[in-house]
Amino acid sequence: MSRPDPHSWYDDGQPRAARLDLRLTCDFDRKVLHGSATLHFADAVSGPLDLDTRALTVFAAANQDGAAAPFRSAEDDAILGQRLRVDLPAGTRALTLTYETSPEAVALQWLDPAQTAGRRHPFLFSQCQAIHARTVVPVQDTPVVRIPYRAEITVPAALTAVMSAGPAGDRPGPAPGTRTFLFDMPQPIPPYLLALAVGDLAFRDLSPRSRVWAEPATVEAAAWEFAGIEEQMTTAEGLFGPYDWDRYDMLVLPPSFPYGGMENPRLTFLTPTLLAGDRSLVDVVAHELAHSWTGNLVTNATMDHFWLNEGFTVWAERRILEALHGAEAAARGWAIGQNSLEEAIERFGADSPLTKLRMDLAGVDPDDAYSQVAYEKGARFVVRLEREVGRARFDAFLREYMRRFRFQSLTTEQFLEFLEEQLPGVAQAVDAARWLHEPGLPAGAPAFHSAHLERLRALGTAWSAGERPRPDEVARWESPDLVLFLQHLPRELSHEDCAWLDRTFGLTGRGNYEVLVEWLTIAAGSDYEPVFARVREVLMSVGRMKYLRPLYTALGRHPRTRALAHEIFAAAGPRYHALSRRVVGSVLEKYAQ
Ligand code: BES
Ligand code: ZN
Repeated sequence: MSRPDPHSWYDDGQPRAARLDLRLTCDFDRKVLHGSATLHFADAVSGPLDLDTRALTVFAAANQDGAAAPFRSAEDDAILGQRLRVDLPAGTRALTLTYETSPEAVALQWLDPAQTAGRRHPFLFSQCQAIHARTVVPVQDTPVVRIPYRAEITVPAALTAVMSAGPAGDRPGPAPGTRTFLFDMPQPIPPYLLALAVGDLAFRDLSPRSRVWAEPATVEAAAWEFAGIEEQMTTAEGLFGPYDWDRYDMLVLPPSFPYGGMENPRLTFLTPTLLAGDRSLVDVVAHELAHSWTGNLVTNATMDHFWLNEGFTVWAERRILEALHGAEAAARGWAIGQNSLEEAIERFGADSPLTKLRMDLAGVDPDDAYSQVAYEKGARFVVRLEREVGRARFDAFLREYMRRFRFQSLTTEQFLEFLEEQLPGVAQAVDAARWLHEPGLPAGAPAFHSAHLERLRALGTAWSAGERPRPDEVARWESPDLVLFLQHLPRELSHEDCAWLDRTFGLTGRGNYEVLVEWLTIAAGSDYEPVFARVREVLMSVGRMKYLRPLYTALGRHPRTRALAHEIFAAAGPRYHALSRRVVGSVLEKYAQ
Protein backbone atom coordinates (compact mmCIF):
# COMPACT_ATOMS: atom_id res chain seq x y z
CA MET A 1 0.00 0.00 0.00
CA SER A 2 1.69 3.16 -1.09
CA ARG A 3 0.96 6.38 -2.91
CA PRO A 4 3.35 6.64 -5.89
CA ASP A 5 2.23 10.15 -6.90
CA PRO A 6 2.53 13.08 -4.47
CA HIS A 7 -0.32 14.80 -6.32
CA SER A 8 -2.85 12.01 -6.15
CA TRP A 9 -4.68 10.03 -3.50
CA TYR A 10 -4.18 6.93 -5.68
CA ASP A 11 -3.11 3.98 -3.57
CA ASP A 12 -1.39 1.23 -5.53
CA GLY A 13 -2.56 -1.41 -3.06
CA GLN A 14 -6.14 -0.79 -4.18
CA PRO A 15 -7.99 -1.84 -7.34
CA ARG A 16 -6.92 0.13 -10.36
CA ALA A 17 -9.43 1.41 -12.92
CA ALA A 18 -9.04 -0.25 -16.32
CA ARG A 19 -11.56 1.80 -18.32
CA LEU A 20 -13.80 4.83 -17.96
CA ASP A 21 -17.29 5.50 -19.33
CA LEU A 22 -18.59 9.05 -19.09
CA ARG A 23 -22.20 10.16 -19.54
CA LEU A 24 -22.41 13.88 -19.04
CA THR A 25 -24.81 16.68 -19.81
CA CYS A 26 -23.49 20.14 -20.32
CA ASP A 27 -25.64 22.76 -18.54
CA PHE A 28 -24.58 26.23 -19.68
CA ASP A 29 -27.15 27.97 -17.46
CA ARG A 30 -25.78 26.47 -14.26
CA LYS A 31 -22.22 26.10 -15.63
CA VAL A 32 -22.00 22.46 -14.56
CA LEU A 33 -21.53 19.06 -16.11
CA HIS A 34 -23.79 16.45 -14.57
CA GLY A 35 -24.27 12.76 -15.12
CA SER A 36 -22.19 9.72 -14.32
CA ALA A 37 -18.75 8.18 -14.52
CA THR A 38 -18.32 4.41 -14.59
CA LEU A 39 -14.97 2.93 -13.64
CA HIS A 40 -14.45 -0.60 -14.93
CA PHE A 41 -12.03 -3.04 -13.32
CA ALA A 42 -10.25 -5.93 -14.98
CA ASP A 43 -11.44 -8.38 -12.29
CA ALA A 44 -14.07 -8.56 -9.59
CA VAL A 45 -12.77 -6.37 -6.76
CA SER A 46 -13.91 -5.17 -3.35
CA GLY A 47 -12.84 -2.99 -0.45
CA PRO A 48 -11.66 0.61 -0.24
CA LEU A 49 -11.03 2.67 -3.33
CA ASP A 50 -9.58 6.18 -3.07
CA LEU A 51 -10.41 8.56 -5.89
CA ASP A 52 -9.29 12.11 -6.57
CA THR A 53 -12.01 14.72 -6.62
CA ARG A 54 -12.14 18.45 -6.28
CA ALA A 55 -15.31 20.46 -5.89
CA LEU A 56 -17.38 17.55 -7.23
CA THR A 57 -20.77 16.72 -5.74
CA VAL A 58 -21.25 12.96 -5.69
CA PHE A 59 -24.87 11.91 -5.33
CA ALA A 60 -24.67 8.13 -5.51
CA ALA A 61 -22.31 5.22 -6.04
CA ALA A 62 -23.30 1.70 -7.05
CA ASN A 63 -21.73 -1.32 -8.71
CA GLN A 64 -22.85 -3.09 -11.89
CA ASP A 65 -25.59 -4.95 -9.99
CA GLY A 66 -26.96 -1.80 -8.42
CA ALA A 67 -25.44 -2.66 -5.04
CA ALA A 68 -24.76 0.61 -3.21
CA ALA A 69 -21.14 1.46 -2.59
CA PRO A 70 -20.83 3.59 0.56
CA PHE A 71 -18.67 6.67 -0.03
CA ARG A 72 -17.42 9.70 1.86
CA SER A 73 -15.06 12.60 1.38
CA ALA A 74 -12.26 11.39 3.58
CA GLU A 75 -9.50 13.99 3.27
CA ASP A 76 -9.21 17.50 1.93
CA ASP A 77 -5.90 18.97 0.87
CA ALA A 78 -5.24 22.46 -0.50
CA ILE A 79 -3.22 21.05 -3.42
CA LEU A 80 -4.63 17.56 -3.98
CA GLY A 81 -8.30 18.27 -3.36
CA GLN A 82 -10.72 15.85 -1.71
CA ARG A 83 -10.03 12.17 -1.39
CA LEU A 84 -13.24 10.27 -2.06
CA ARG A 85 -13.20 6.92 -0.34
CA VAL A 86 -15.60 4.37 -1.80
CA ASP A 87 -16.21 0.96 -0.23
CA LEU A 88 -16.65 -1.43 -3.12
CA PRO A 89 -19.10 -4.25 -2.41
CA ALA A 90 -17.80 -7.77 -3.06
CA GLY A 91 -17.87 -8.74 -6.72
CA THR A 92 -17.57 -5.21 -8.09
CA ARG A 93 -16.55 -5.10 -11.75
CA ALA A 94 -17.81 -1.63 -12.45
CA LEU A 95 -18.51 1.34 -10.20
CA THR A 96 -20.89 4.07 -11.33
CA LEU A 97 -20.72 7.44 -9.61
CA THR A 98 -23.53 9.89 -10.20
CA TYR A 99 -22.23 13.40 -9.75
CA GLU A 100 -21.93 16.96 -10.94
CA THR A 101 -19.11 19.46 -11.29
CA SER A 102 -18.92 22.91 -9.73
CA PRO A 103 -19.05 26.17 -11.70
CA GLU A 104 -15.63 26.80 -10.10
CA ALA A 105 -14.04 23.61 -11.50
CA VAL A 106 -10.49 24.71 -12.35
CA ALA A 107 -10.30 22.50 -15.43
CA LEU A 108 -13.42 24.01 -17.00
CA GLN A 109 -13.83 27.48 -18.36
CA TRP A 110 -17.41 28.47 -19.20
CA LEU A 111 -17.38 31.39 -21.60
CA ASP A 112 -20.21 33.83 -22.18
CA PRO A 113 -21.06 34.50 -25.83
CA ALA A 114 -19.24 37.86 -25.58
CA GLN A 115 -15.97 35.98 -24.99
CA THR A 116 -16.23 34.08 -28.28
CA ALA A 117 -15.49 35.17 -31.82
CA GLY A 118 -19.10 34.64 -32.90
CA ARG A 119 -20.61 36.38 -29.84
CA ARG A 120 -23.83 34.38 -30.14
CA HIS A 121 -23.20 31.11 -28.33
CA PRO A 122 -21.53 30.15 -25.08
CA PHE A 123 -18.39 28.00 -25.11
CA LEU A 124 -16.89 25.46 -22.75
CA PHE A 125 -13.38 24.03 -22.77
CA SER A 126 -11.32 21.91 -20.41
CA GLN A 127 -7.64 22.00 -19.47
CA CYS A 128 -6.84 19.04 -17.23
CA GLN A 129 -3.04 19.00 -17.11
CA ALA A 130 -1.50 18.85 -14.63
CA ILE A 131 -3.91 17.78 -11.86
CA HIS A 132 -7.29 19.24 -12.73
CA ALA A 133 -9.04 16.22 -14.29
CA ARG A 134 -10.33 15.59 -10.77
CA THR A 135 -12.47 18.73 -11.04
CA VAL A 136 -14.29 17.12 -13.99
CA VAL A 137 -14.46 13.43 -13.15
CA PRO A 138 -13.79 11.31 -10.04
CA VAL A 139 -10.80 9.17 -11.05
CA GLN A 140 -7.38 8.02 -9.95
CA ASP A 141 -5.96 11.27 -11.28
CA THR A 142 -2.35 10.27 -11.82
CA PRO A 143 -0.50 9.40 -15.04
CA VAL A 144 0.48 6.16 -13.30
CA VAL A 145 -3.06 4.94 -14.03
CA ARG A 146 -3.65 5.10 -17.77
CA ILE A 147 -7.17 4.34 -19.00
CA PRO A 148 -9.06 4.14 -22.27
CA TYR A 149 -12.37 5.98 -22.18
CA ARG A 150 -15.72 6.34 -23.89
CA ALA A 151 -18.06 9.26 -23.51
CA GLU A 152 -21.58 10.42 -24.28
CA ILE A 153 -21.84 14.18 -24.03
CA THR A 154 -25.20 15.92 -24.27
CA VAL A 155 -25.16 19.57 -25.30
CA PRO A 156 -27.60 22.22 -26.62
CA ALA A 157 -28.49 21.17 -30.17
CA ALA A 158 -26.96 24.29 -31.76
CA LEU A 159 -23.53 23.36 -30.37
CA THR A 160 -20.93 20.70 -31.14
CA ALA A 161 -18.92 18.68 -28.63
CA VAL A 162 -15.37 17.51 -29.37
CA MET A 163 -13.04 15.44 -27.21
CA SER A 164 -9.54 13.97 -27.05
CA ALA A 165 -10.96 10.81 -28.60
CA GLY A 166 -12.28 9.36 -31.82
CA PRO A 167 -15.76 10.60 -32.74
CA ALA A 168 -18.31 7.77 -32.59
CA GLY A 169 -21.38 9.50 -34.01
CA ASP A 170 -24.12 11.71 -32.61
CA ARG A 171 -27.87 11.49 -32.09
CA PRO A 172 -30.75 13.55 -30.73
CA GLY A 173 -30.33 14.02 -26.97
CA PRO A 174 -32.74 12.81 -24.28
CA ALA A 175 -34.35 16.23 -23.85
CA PRO A 176 -35.81 18.36 -26.66
CA GLY A 177 -33.28 20.85 -28.07
CA THR A 178 -30.29 18.70 -27.11
CA ARG A 179 -27.88 16.52 -29.01
CA THR A 180 -25.64 13.73 -27.72
CA PHE A 181 -22.13 13.24 -29.12
CA LEU A 182 -20.36 9.90 -28.71
CA PHE A 183 -16.62 9.36 -28.35
CA ASP A 184 -14.22 6.48 -28.06
CA MET A 185 -10.58 6.65 -26.98
CA PRO A 186 -9.42 3.04 -27.23
CA GLN A 187 -5.82 3.71 -26.20
CA PRO A 188 -4.95 4.06 -22.52
CA ILE A 189 -4.26 7.69 -21.65
CA PRO A 190 -3.31 9.46 -18.43
CA PRO A 191 -6.30 11.37 -17.00
CA TYR A 192 -4.59 14.71 -17.69
CA LEU A 193 -5.24 14.05 -21.39
CA LEU A 194 -9.01 13.88 -20.97
CA ALA A 195 -10.37 16.86 -22.85
CA LEU A 196 -13.70 18.33 -23.88
CA ALA A 197 -14.80 21.45 -25.70
CA VAL A 198 -18.32 22.54 -26.59
CA GLY A 199 -19.26 25.47 -28.77
CA ASP A 200 -20.42 26.70 -32.13
CA LEU A 201 -17.77 24.77 -34.06
CA ALA A 202 -16.99 24.26 -37.72
CA PHE A 203 -14.16 22.33 -39.32
CA ARG A 204 -12.02 22.30 -42.45
CA ASP A 205 -10.23 19.17 -43.63
CA LEU A 206 -6.49 19.69 -44.10
CA SER A 207 -5.54 16.14 -45.07
CA PRO A 208 -7.18 12.71 -44.97
CA ARG A 209 -6.18 12.37 -41.32
CA SER A 210 -6.27 15.93 -40.08
CA ARG A 211 -8.83 18.67 -39.74
CA VAL A 212 -8.97 21.93 -37.85
CA TRP A 213 -11.96 22.89 -35.68
CA ALA A 214 -12.74 26.47 -34.75
CA GLU A 215 -15.61 28.87 -34.45
CA PRO A 216 -17.04 29.65 -37.91
CA ALA A 217 -15.60 33.18 -37.69
CA THR A 218 -12.03 31.84 -37.32
CA VAL A 219 -12.07 28.54 -39.17
CA GLU A 220 -10.86 29.87 -42.55
CA ALA A 221 -7.91 31.67 -41.00
CA ALA A 222 -7.11 28.55 -38.97
CA ALA A 223 -7.25 26.30 -42.05
CA TRP A 224 -4.82 28.60 -43.84
CA GLU A 225 -2.43 28.92 -40.89
CA PHE A 226 -2.19 25.16 -40.29
CA ALA A 227 -2.35 23.95 -43.90
CA GLY A 228 1.15 22.46 -43.53
CA ILE A 229 0.11 19.92 -40.89
CA GLU A 230 0.43 16.83 -43.08
CA GLU A 231 4.00 17.79 -43.95
CA GLN A 232 4.76 18.20 -40.25
CA MET A 233 3.22 14.79 -39.56
CA THR A 234 5.17 12.93 -42.25
CA THR A 235 8.36 14.69 -41.08
CA ALA A 236 7.70 13.63 -37.49
CA GLU A 237 6.94 10.07 -38.58
CA GLY A 238 10.24 9.98 -40.44
CA LEU A 239 12.02 10.93 -37.23
CA PHE A 240 10.07 9.09 -34.54
CA GLY A 241 8.16 6.27 -36.21
CA PRO A 242 4.52 5.84 -37.29
CA TYR A 243 1.87 8.13 -35.83
CA ASP A 244 -0.08 5.86 -33.51
CA TRP A 245 -3.23 7.82 -32.75
CA ASP A 246 -5.19 7.49 -36.00
CA ARG A 247 -6.26 11.12 -36.55
CA TYR A 248 -4.50 14.35 -35.64
CA ASP A 249 -7.07 17.13 -35.41
CA MET A 250 -6.67 20.59 -33.96
CA LEU A 251 -9.07 22.88 -32.15
CA VAL A 252 -8.57 26.63 -32.07
CA LEU A 253 -10.05 27.98 -28.86
CA PRO A 254 -11.27 31.40 -27.84
CA PRO A 255 -8.47 33.76 -26.68
CA SER A 256 -8.83 33.07 -22.95
CA PHE A 257 -7.22 29.62 -23.40
CA PRO A 258 -4.39 29.78 -20.82
CA TYR A 259 -1.72 27.91 -22.80
CA GLY A 260 -0.25 28.10 -26.28
CA GLY A 261 -1.17 24.53 -26.99
CA MET A 262 -2.22 21.36 -25.21
CA GLU A 263 -1.45 17.94 -26.67
CA ASN A 264 -4.84 16.35 -26.05
CA PRO A 265 -4.58 13.11 -28.04
CA ARG A 266 -6.23 13.15 -31.47
CA LEU A 267 -7.25 16.77 -30.86
CA THR A 268 -4.60 19.31 -29.97
CA PHE A 269 -6.02 22.44 -28.32
CA LEU A 270 -4.50 25.72 -29.57
CA THR A 271 -4.61 29.39 -28.65
CA PRO A 272 -5.96 31.68 -31.39
CA THR A 273 -2.88 33.87 -30.88
CA LEU A 274 -1.15 31.43 -33.25
CA LEU A 275 -3.22 32.83 -36.12
CA ALA A 276 -0.55 35.35 -37.11
CA GLY A 277 -1.61 35.29 -40.74
CA ASP A 278 1.86 34.25 -41.95
CA ARG A 279 2.31 30.71 -40.54
CA SER A 280 5.16 32.02 -38.39
CA LEU A 281 3.95 30.39 -35.15
CA VAL A 282 3.33 26.82 -36.28
CA ASP A 283 6.29 25.58 -34.22
CA VAL A 284 3.76 25.36 -31.37
CA VAL A 285 1.87 22.81 -33.48
CA ALA A 286 5.13 20.93 -34.09
CA HIS A 287 5.55 20.81 -30.32
CA GLU A 288 2.05 19.49 -29.61
CA LEU A 289 2.33 17.03 -32.47
CA ALA A 290 5.68 15.80 -31.10
CA HIS A 291 3.91 15.00 -27.82
CA SER A 292 2.09 12.25 -29.74
CA TRP A 293 5.36 10.37 -29.28
CA THR A 294 7.18 12.02 -26.40
CA GLY A 295 4.44 12.48 -23.83
CA ASN A 296 1.28 10.80 -24.98
CA LEU A 297 2.98 7.50 -25.81
CA VAL A 298 5.61 7.72 -23.07
CA THR A 299 4.75 10.16 -20.31
CA ASN A 300 5.98 11.16 -16.86
CA ALA A 301 4.82 8.94 -13.99
CA THR A 302 4.26 12.03 -11.85
CA MET A 303 4.98 15.75 -12.10
CA ASP A 304 8.32 15.12 -10.36
CA HIS A 305 9.42 13.77 -13.74
CA PHE A 306 7.79 16.42 -15.92
CA TRP A 307 11.08 16.98 -17.79
CA LEU A 308 10.72 13.50 -19.37
CA ASN A 309 7.57 14.83 -20.98
CA GLU A 310 8.43 18.40 -21.96
CA GLY A 311 12.22 18.15 -22.30
CA PHE A 312 11.98 15.37 -24.85
CA THR A 313 9.17 17.18 -26.61
CA VAL A 314 11.09 20.43 -27.02
CA TRP A 315 14.00 18.40 -28.36
CA ALA A 316 11.64 16.60 -30.77
CA GLU A 317 9.97 19.87 -31.79
CA ARG A 318 13.36 21.32 -32.77
CA ARG A 319 14.24 18.18 -34.70
CA ILE A 320 11.05 18.64 -36.71
CA LEU A 321 11.88 22.32 -37.17
CA GLU A 322 15.38 21.45 -38.36
CA ALA A 323 14.12 18.81 -40.79
CA LEU A 324 11.57 21.22 -42.25
CA HIS A 325 13.39 24.55 -42.18
CA GLY A 326 17.06 23.82 -41.63
CA ALA A 327 19.65 24.08 -38.90
CA GLU A 328 19.58 27.88 -38.75
CA ALA A 329 15.84 27.94 -37.96
CA ALA A 330 16.33 25.29 -35.26
CA ALA A 331 19.25 27.21 -33.76
CA ARG A 332 17.04 30.28 -33.55
CA GLY A 333 14.49 28.19 -31.65
CA TRP A 334 17.20 27.10 -29.22
CA ALA A 335 18.37 30.70 -28.78
CA ILE A 336 14.88 31.96 -27.95
CA GLY A 337 14.55 29.00 -25.58
CA GLN A 338 17.83 29.95 -23.91
CA ASN A 339 16.42 33.35 -23.02
CA SER A 340 13.24 31.91 -21.55
CA LEU A 341 15.31 29.39 -19.59
CA GLU A 342 17.53 32.10 -18.14
CA GLU A 343 14.46 34.14 -17.27
CA ALA A 344 12.90 31.16 -15.45
CA ILE A 345 16.09 30.36 -13.53
CA GLU A 346 16.36 33.98 -12.51
CA ARG A 347 12.72 34.09 -11.40
CA PHE A 348 13.13 31.07 -9.09
CA GLY A 349 16.77 31.73 -8.13
CA ALA A 350 19.72 29.73 -9.48
CA ASP A 351 19.82 27.43 -6.46
CA SER A 352 16.07 26.87 -6.21
CA PRO A 353 15.03 23.20 -6.18
CA LEU A 354 12.46 24.15 -8.83
CA THR A 355 15.36 24.47 -11.29
CA LYS A 356 16.22 20.78 -10.96
CA LEU A 357 15.02 18.41 -13.65
CA ARG A 358 14.13 15.61 -11.25
CA MET A 359 11.89 17.47 -8.84
CA ASP A 360 10.36 16.62 -5.49
CA LEU A 361 7.00 18.32 -5.57
CA ALA A 362 5.42 16.84 -2.45
CA GLY A 363 3.62 19.81 -0.90
CA VAL A 364 4.10 21.95 -4.02
CA ASP A 365 1.33 22.85 -6.45
CA PRO A 366 2.43 21.76 -9.96
CA ASP A 367 1.01 25.00 -11.35
CA ASP A 368 3.44 26.93 -9.12
CA ALA A 369 6.37 24.73 -10.17
CA TYR A 370 5.59 25.10 -13.89
CA SER A 371 8.38 26.84 -15.79
CA GLN A 372 10.63 26.62 -18.83
CA VAL A 373 13.18 24.63 -16.80
CA ALA A 374 11.59 21.24 -17.57
CA TYR A 375 11.34 22.31 -21.21
CA GLU A 376 14.61 24.00 -22.04
CA LYS A 377 16.98 22.54 -19.47
CA GLY A 378 15.36 19.17 -20.15
CA ALA A 379 15.84 19.54 -23.91
CA ARG A 380 19.46 20.58 -23.42
CA PHE A 381 20.07 17.44 -21.39
CA VAL A 382 18.61 15.38 -24.24
CA VAL A 383 20.93 17.17 -26.70
CA ARG A 384 23.84 16.51 -24.35
CA LEU A 385 23.04 12.79 -24.59
CA GLU A 386 22.55 13.02 -28.34
CA ARG A 387 25.91 14.74 -28.85
CA GLU A 388 27.68 12.25 -26.62
CA VAL A 389 26.68 9.22 -28.68
CA GLY A 390 26.05 10.83 -32.06
CA ARG A 391 22.75 11.29 -33.81
CA ALA A 392 22.48 7.86 -35.41
CA ARG A 393 22.92 5.98 -32.14
CA PHE A 394 20.73 8.39 -30.26
CA ASP A 395 17.88 8.12 -32.75
CA ALA A 396 18.06 4.33 -32.49
CA PHE A 397 18.02 4.66 -28.69
CA LEU A 398 14.98 6.90 -28.84
CA ARG A 399 13.03 4.53 -31.04
CA GLU A 400 13.81 1.65 -28.73
CA TYR A 401 12.79 3.83 -25.75
CA MET A 402 9.43 4.52 -27.33
CA ARG A 403 8.93 0.92 -28.33
CA ARG A 404 9.73 -0.37 -24.86
CA PHE A 405 7.65 2.13 -22.89
CA ARG A 406 4.71 2.79 -25.23
CA PHE A 407 1.54 3.58 -23.29
CA GLN A 408 3.49 3.70 -20.06
CA SER A 409 4.30 6.39 -17.54
CA LEU A 410 7.91 6.63 -16.51
CA THR A 411 10.09 7.93 -13.68
CA THR A 412 13.50 9.56 -14.10
CA GLU A 413 15.00 6.55 -12.33
CA GLN A 414 13.43 4.13 -14.83
CA PHE A 415 14.74 6.29 -17.64
CA LEU A 416 18.26 6.18 -16.20
CA GLU A 417 18.09 2.44 -15.81
CA PHE A 418 17.08 2.07 -19.44
CA LEU A 419 19.78 4.52 -20.55
CA GLU A 420 22.42 2.50 -18.72
CA GLU A 421 21.12 -0.72 -20.26
CA GLN A 422 21.10 0.65 -23.82
CA LEU A 423 24.03 3.07 -23.72
CA PRO A 424 26.28 1.93 -20.88
CA GLY A 425 28.52 4.59 -19.36
CA VAL A 426 26.82 7.51 -21.11
CA ALA A 427 24.99 8.78 -18.03
CA GLN A 428 28.33 8.95 -16.25
CA ALA A 429 30.07 10.58 -19.20
CA VAL A 430 27.57 13.44 -19.42
CA ASP A 431 27.28 13.76 -15.63
CA ALA A 432 23.58 12.98 -15.69
CA ALA A 433 23.41 13.30 -11.91
CA ARG A 434 24.45 16.95 -12.16
CA TRP A 435 21.81 17.62 -14.82
CA LEU A 436 19.02 15.84 -12.99
CA HIS A 437 19.61 16.46 -9.33
CA GLU A 438 21.38 19.81 -9.14
CA PRO A 439 19.75 23.22 -9.60
CA GLY A 440 20.65 25.66 -12.37
CA LEU A 441 22.15 24.97 -15.76
CA PRO A 442 25.39 22.93 -15.79
CA ALA A 443 28.49 24.63 -17.15
CA GLY A 444 29.19 23.22 -20.57
CA ALA A 445 25.50 22.83 -21.46
CA PRO A 446 25.06 22.49 -25.23
CA ALA A 447 25.34 25.81 -27.00
CA PHE A 448 23.82 26.73 -30.33
CA HIS A 449 25.79 29.16 -32.44
CA SER A 450 25.57 30.79 -35.80
CA ALA A 451 26.94 34.01 -37.25
CA HIS A 452 23.42 35.31 -37.64
CA LEU A 453 22.55 34.62 -33.98
CA GLU A 454 25.75 36.28 -32.83
CA ARG A 455 24.91 39.35 -34.88
CA LEU A 456 21.40 39.60 -33.36
CA ARG A 457 22.80 39.27 -29.88
CA ALA A 458 25.55 41.81 -30.54
CA LEU A 459 23.03 44.30 -31.87
CA GLY A 460 20.92 43.96 -28.75
CA THR A 461 23.78 44.28 -26.32
CA ALA A 462 25.41 47.17 -28.23
CA TRP A 463 22.16 49.11 -28.17
CA SER A 464 23.13 51.15 -25.13
CA ALA A 465 26.38 52.12 -26.87
CA GLY A 466 24.30 53.67 -29.62
CA GLU A 467 24.54 50.94 -32.25
CA ARG A 468 21.45 50.40 -34.42
CA PRO A 469 20.65 47.68 -36.97
CA ARG A 470 21.03 48.70 -40.62
CA PRO A 471 17.79 49.07 -42.61
CA ASP A 472 18.96 46.58 -45.26
CA GLU A 473 19.55 43.79 -42.75
CA VAL A 474 16.35 44.55 -40.87
CA ALA A 475 14.46 44.13 -44.13
CA ARG A 476 15.55 40.47 -44.25
CA TRP A 477 14.55 39.60 -40.67
CA GLU A 478 11.77 37.15 -40.00
CA SER A 479 9.62 37.37 -36.87
CA PRO A 480 11.85 35.09 -34.72
CA ASP A 481 14.86 37.27 -35.58
CA LEU A 482 13.00 40.29 -34.34
CA VAL A 483 12.00 38.43 -31.18
CA LEU A 484 15.63 37.55 -30.48
CA PHE A 485 16.81 41.08 -31.12
CA LEU A 486 14.16 42.50 -28.79
CA GLN A 487 15.03 39.91 -26.12
CA HIS A 488 18.59 41.20 -26.05
CA LEU A 489 17.64 44.84 -25.59
CA PRO A 490 17.71 46.45 -22.15
CA ARG A 491 14.40 45.98 -20.29
CA GLU A 492 13.91 49.72 -20.04
CA LEU A 493 14.51 52.23 -22.83
CA SER A 494 14.18 55.96 -23.32
CA HIS A 495 11.01 57.17 -24.99
CA GLU A 496 13.07 58.26 -27.99
CA ASP A 497 14.39 54.71 -28.32
CA CYS A 498 10.88 53.30 -28.02
CA ALA A 499 9.67 55.66 -30.73
CA TRP A 500 12.59 54.66 -32.98
CA LEU A 501 11.87 50.96 -32.55
CA ASP A 502 8.17 51.30 -33.20
CA ARG A 503 8.76 53.50 -36.23
CA THR A 504 11.40 51.20 -37.67
CA PHE A 505 9.64 47.90 -37.11
CA GLY A 506 5.97 48.86 -36.89
CA LEU A 507 5.76 46.87 -33.66
CA THR A 508 2.56 48.05 -31.99
CA GLY A 509 0.49 47.01 -34.99
CA ARG A 510 1.96 43.49 -35.28
CA GLY A 511 -0.33 40.47 -35.42
CA ASN A 512 2.45 38.08 -34.41
CA TYR A 513 2.00 37.81 -30.63
CA GLU A 514 5.57 36.67 -29.98
CA VAL A 515 6.90 39.90 -31.50
CA LEU A 516 4.06 42.03 -30.17
CA VAL A 517 4.34 40.90 -26.55
CA GLU A 518 8.15 41.07 -26.56
CA TRP A 519 7.82 44.67 -27.69
CA LEU A 520 4.95 45.63 -25.39
CA THR A 521 6.91 44.20 -22.46
CA ILE A 522 9.80 46.58 -23.15
CA ALA A 523 7.53 49.52 -23.93
CA ALA A 524 5.30 48.98 -20.88
CA GLY A 525 8.39 48.61 -18.68
CA SER A 526 9.64 51.89 -20.13
CA ASP A 527 6.44 53.71 -19.15
CA TYR A 528 5.93 54.49 -22.84
CA GLU A 529 2.40 55.84 -23.07
CA PRO A 530 1.75 55.38 -26.81
CA VAL A 531 1.43 51.58 -26.28
CA PHE A 532 -0.90 51.69 -23.27
CA ALA A 533 -4.04 51.28 -25.38
CA ARG A 534 -2.58 48.25 -27.17
CA VAL A 535 -1.44 46.73 -23.87
CA ARG A 536 -4.94 47.14 -22.53
CA GLU A 537 -6.42 45.58 -25.65
CA VAL A 538 -4.16 42.53 -25.40
CA LEU A 539 -4.69 42.04 -21.67
CA MET A 540 -8.45 42.44 -21.99
CA SER A 541 -8.78 39.59 -24.47
CA VAL A 542 -5.83 37.20 -24.32
CA GLY A 543 -5.53 34.75 -21.44
CA ARG A 544 -2.34 32.95 -22.47
CA MET A 545 -0.20 32.92 -19.33
CA LYS A 546 3.02 33.13 -21.32
CA TYR A 547 1.97 36.65 -22.33
CA LEU A 548 0.20 37.77 -19.18
CA ARG A 549 3.13 37.16 -16.85
CA PRO A 550 5.75 39.34 -18.62
CA LEU A 551 3.28 42.09 -19.45
CA TYR A 552 1.90 42.44 -15.94
CA THR A 553 5.43 42.15 -14.53
CA ALA A 554 6.67 44.95 -16.78
CA LEU A 555 3.74 47.14 -15.82
CA GLY A 556 4.97 46.90 -12.23
CA ARG A 557 8.06 49.00 -12.90
CA HIS A 558 6.47 52.45 -12.76
CA PRO A 559 3.72 53.97 -10.59
CA ARG A 560 1.57 54.99 -13.54
CA THR A 561 1.70 51.60 -15.24
CA ARG A 562 1.22 49.87 -11.89
CA ALA A 563 -2.10 51.66 -11.52
CA LEU A 564 -2.91 50.72 -15.10
CA ALA A 565 -2.19 47.05 -14.36
CA HIS A 566 -4.53 47.00 -11.37
CA GLU A 567 -7.22 48.78 -13.32
CA ILE A 568 -6.97 46.38 -16.27
CA PHE A 569 -6.91 43.33 -14.02
CA ALA A 570 -10.01 44.53 -12.16
CA ALA A 571 -11.85 44.62 -15.49
CA ALA A 572 -10.27 41.60 -17.22
CA GLY A 573 -9.76 39.28 -14.24
CA PRO A 574 -13.28 37.84 -14.19
CA ARG A 575 -12.90 36.88 -17.84
CA TYR A 576 -9.56 35.12 -17.38
CA HIS A 577 -9.25 31.38 -16.89
CA ALA A 578 -8.81 30.48 -13.21
CA LEU A 579 -5.16 29.53 -13.89
CA SER A 580 -4.41 32.84 -15.62
CA ARG A 581 -6.13 34.75 -12.82
CA ARG A 582 -3.90 33.03 -10.29
CA VAL A 583 -0.70 33.83 -12.17
CA VAL A 584 -1.62 37.50 -12.59
CA GLY A 585 -2.73 37.69 -8.96
CA SER A 586 0.67 36.44 -7.85
CA VAL A 587 2.44 39.01 -10.06
CA LEU A 588 0.31 41.92 -8.82
CA GLU A 589 0.78 40.83 -5.21
CA LYS A 590 4.43 41.73 -5.55
CA TYR A 591 3.67 45.35 -6.25
CA ALA A 592 1.10 47.46 -4.45
CA GLN A 593 -1.20 49.85 -6.27
N1 BES B 1 1.51 20.20 -22.14
C1 BES B 1 1.90 21.53 -22.33
C2 BES B 1 1.02 22.52 -21.62
C3 BES B 1 0.87 22.27 -20.13
C4 BES B 1 1.92 21.81 -19.35
C5 BES B 1 -0.33 22.52 -19.53
C6 BES B 1 1.74 21.59 -17.99
C7 BES B 1 -0.50 22.30 -18.19
C8 BES B 1 0.53 21.83 -17.41
C9 BES B 1 2.01 21.90 -23.81
O1 BES B 1 2.52 20.86 -24.59
C10 BES B 1 2.99 23.01 -23.94
O2 BES B 1 4.11 22.81 -23.58
N2 BES B 1 2.57 24.15 -24.45
C11 BES B 1 3.46 25.27 -24.69
C12 BES B 1 3.84 25.28 -26.14
C13 BES B 1 5.27 25.55 -26.44
C14 BES B 1 6.30 24.92 -25.60
C15 BES B 1 5.58 25.41 -27.91
C16 BES B 1 2.72 26.55 -24.34
O3 BES B 1 1.52 26.48 -24.03
O4 BES B 1 3.30 27.61 -24.32
ZN1 ZN C 1 4.58 20.46 -24.19
